[in-house]
Amino acid sequence: MTTLTVEKLNHEIGAEIIGLDADRMTSDEAVPGAVLEALEANGVLVFRGLYLEPEAQVAFCRTLGEIDTSAGHHPVDGIYRVSLDTSKNSSASYLRGTFDWHIDGCTPKDDTYPQMATVLSAKAVAVRGGETEFASTYRAYDRLGADEKKRLAALRVLHSLEASQRPVTADPTPQQLEYWRRWPTREHPLVWTHKSGRRSLVLGTSTDHVVGMDRAQGRALLDDLLARCTAPEYVYRHEWSVGDTVIWDNRGVIHRAAPYPEDSPREMLRTTVLGDEPIQ
Ligand code: OGA
Ligand code: MN
Repeated sequence: MTTLTVEKLNHEIGAEIIGLDADRMTSDEAVPGAVLEALEANGVLVFRGLYLEPEAQVAFCRTLGEIDTSAGHHPVDGIYRVSLDTSKNSSASYLRGTFDWHIDGCTPKDDTYPQMATVLSAKAVAVRGGETEFASTYRAYDRLGADEKKRLAALRVLHSLEASQRPVTADPTPQQLEYWRRWPTREHPLVWTHKSGRRSLVLGTSTDHVVGMDRAQGRALLDDLLARCTAPEYVYRHEWSVGDTVIWDNRGVIHRAAPYPEDSPREMLRTTVLGDEPIQ
């Protein structure tokens, strides 16, 4: 029996899962495997109007893998509240970093791998802005020419919190700068060879510089690759309605939020499925 009805959103990335209700998400034993398979194939899965309760979201995510249960500014363990309102999330200022393209977890504090998948459910939406955009870094790699693939294979890139915060906090205070610089930096290959054998590009706002390359030349290379990866025809843009749930494969997808105001009611509940492979 086919467990899921999967309708592609475009040719590049994203699919909508039709006709699956919140109860079946957690009760049908065939669902987790089918979701993981659809996720690997499509990068992003959209469940419109699911109205998944926070506890059910956590329970569902546990069927996909181990989840992040660190404190998340929310009473339910395993939920992280995404909001720019500092009364709802005291670390809200860092979330403006989500306005630029990124892969979650490229500069972890400890030795964890970038998360495998992220689930967001819309509790409240922005009046204007706040859409979430996705592009496939698997497809971006596959579109490269043979020579370019060969040239990029040897390159390594330094990722830092400072690089990801500068674009949204152009004029940091000395305290902010000190905090950013205390955070560990990470060196990753530009091309990620996955356990599955697929390859993807490791791009986004946390990229600081290409190791061993002239800074400007390295920046130009990273900017060019990012622009090609995220050209409008390759992007799926999710326009949120309350009750929507979206899950993305953080290993092969880059994402960003369209800017929304700090006093926006927008509130997303996130659950993170922990990574199962290092960037290598
Ligand atoms: C995230 C993220 C984007 C959004 O939670 O990791 O990037 O649209 N969110 O809120
Ligand atoms: Mn993110």
